[in-house]
Amino acid sequence: MPKITRKRVHPWPVRLCHWLNVMVMVGMVMSGWGIYNASPLFSFTFPKVMTLGGWLGGNIAWHLAVMWLLFANALFYLIWGGVSGHFKRRFFPLSLTMAMSEIGRALRFKLPHQQGKYNAVQKLLYVTVILLGALLVLSGLSIWKPVQLSWLVALFGGFDTARYVHFFAMSGLTLFVVVHVVMVLLVPKTLPAMITGGRREESDDE
Ligand code: HEM
Repeated sequence: MPKITRKRVHPWPVRLCHWLNVMVMVGMVMSGWGIYNASPLFSFTFPKVMTLGGWLGGNIAWHLAVMWLLFANALFYLIWGGVSGHFKRRFFPLSLTMAMSEIGRALRFKLPHQQGKYNAVQKLLYVTVILLGALLVLSGLSIWKPVQLSWLVALFGGFDTARYVHFFAMSGLTLFVVVHVVMVLLVPKTLPAMITGGRREESDDE
């Protein structure tokens, strides 16, 4: 008779932080686009339906409120990920050469996916998005409190440059989300485990 076992693929802190982060990102990006529209850096603005808050004051209020959720969630994820060994186990060793060769295989749909074990392309994308998130937060802090954090503004090369850094980090993160969601759609069996945490395994023993 087949024996059914459940294997834990994603522990609860990863799932909790991941799905909270999805909501946080939607709130931050949509309210951020509203703020951008009030003083655009480029010759385009974002459609109003893609913004959150209704007017500039509302956009800013949402951006700063959701920011605290982002802060708490990111802090918990980073501390837990470091202390539990999650980052070390799942994201490393990470090699750029391995990721490059795997990107080629991924584009030819020849990259096998093993549940609970990230391939080099995923490792590279996840580590990059965490670093991009840090850049986004730091550049955001410097344009939020440019007087108190003048040293940070100086590190970015000035207030205007920090604004561009913030915009491009948001663009990189948005691009990550598009690639990430396409990857999930291509390998949809990864999704249930990110929701429930585990997967059912049938084995023939006994
Ligand atoms: C609706 C949108 C999203 C879906 C459906 C989704 C789905 C998933 C799935 C299924 C995994 C596990 C992949 C696997 O086991 O191979 C995963 C992992 C991950 N996702 Fe997402 N994701 C979404 C949005 C995001 C966003 C917005 C971010 C960050 C900006 C993000 C960052 C990550 C990271 C960093 C991991 C690895 C987590 C860890 O192991 O610590 N995802 N996602």
